[in-house]
Amino acid sequence: MDRYLVFGHPVRHSKSPFIHTLFARQTQQELEYGLAEPAVDEFAQALRTFFDQGGKGCNVTVPFKEQAFTLVDCLSPRAKRAGAVNTIKLTDDGVLLGDNTDGAGLVADLKSHGVTLADSRILLLGAGGAARGALAPLLAELPSELVIANRTHTKAQQLAAEFHDLGPVTAQTYEQLAGAFDLVINSTSASLQGELPPLAPALIHTDIAIYDMMYGASDTAFISWAKQHGARQTMDGLGMLVEQAAEAFTVWRGIRPGTKQVLRELKRNLGVI
Ligand code: ATR
Repeated sequence: MDRYLVFGHPVRHSKSPFIHTLFARQTQQELEYGLAEPAVDEFAQALRTFFDQGGKGCNVTVPFKEQAFTLVDCLSPRAKRAGAVNTIKLTDDGVLLGDNTDGAGLVADLKSHGVTLADSRILLLGAGGAARGALAPLLAELPSELVIANRTHTKAQQLAAEFHDLGPVTAQTYEQLAGAFDLVINSTSASLQGELPPLAPALIHTDIAIYDMMYGASDTAFISWAKQHGARQTMDGLGMLVEQAAEAFTVWRGIRPGTKQVLRELKRNLGVI
């Protein structure tokens, strides 16, 4: 049977095996999908061994995405732009192709929630790997403006300069932010520590859409905060997780699974509904 897995550390709580097993069942594909948690300095060896032993493809998550970028034989344009690889496919010619489906997953999830990206004013919080992966797919949707704000302002400036050729992207400090944004995307890891990015409450209004790439069994700190200040449309990163997985599955199998039912089952599994 064709073998796939996700590499990460820690990865024990990953929902990818659950999601891909449902995709395989739905599309009647014969495959198995597991987990691998190599020591941080043993990822390269573990990846080689997996493919030497007949593995067909894998996902890569924290902290290995940047390393995976350097280990594959060739890169998709979107992986090149993201500077990170979350999906690897062994092609029929024996080439390891590195791809990145995170940004496409974010955009697909935003659209499935009915969020309009064209001509919108988007605020992206954070300038780490998650922000980098989101920028090209977001700019491809032709927003009127995309502002990056980050605690370490120089990182936001570097990122804005790097993606400037793709659209109207600028960097501002949290203090400089003003005017009505249509969409705020939190790509920071602040929620992991129960912290908040230092955003002025005045930026939140009733018609704003709020997206947190993090997720949990209950509202993230950022989503709770945004709701308290009047945001009516809030979304967490669970949908992005399912959509990036669907995109990876399509890369591997050439068949696109449906995501709605899988997302519902995942929510049930997590105790969210
Ligand atoms: P990832 O790959 O998930 O993006 P990362 O590269 O470590 O992770 O980036 C984490 C991002 O969250 C960074 O933009 C970080 O800001 P700094 O560049 O200033 O470190 C941001 N971040 C983490 N904790 C934060 C907090 N408490 N408030 C605001 N931003 C925070």
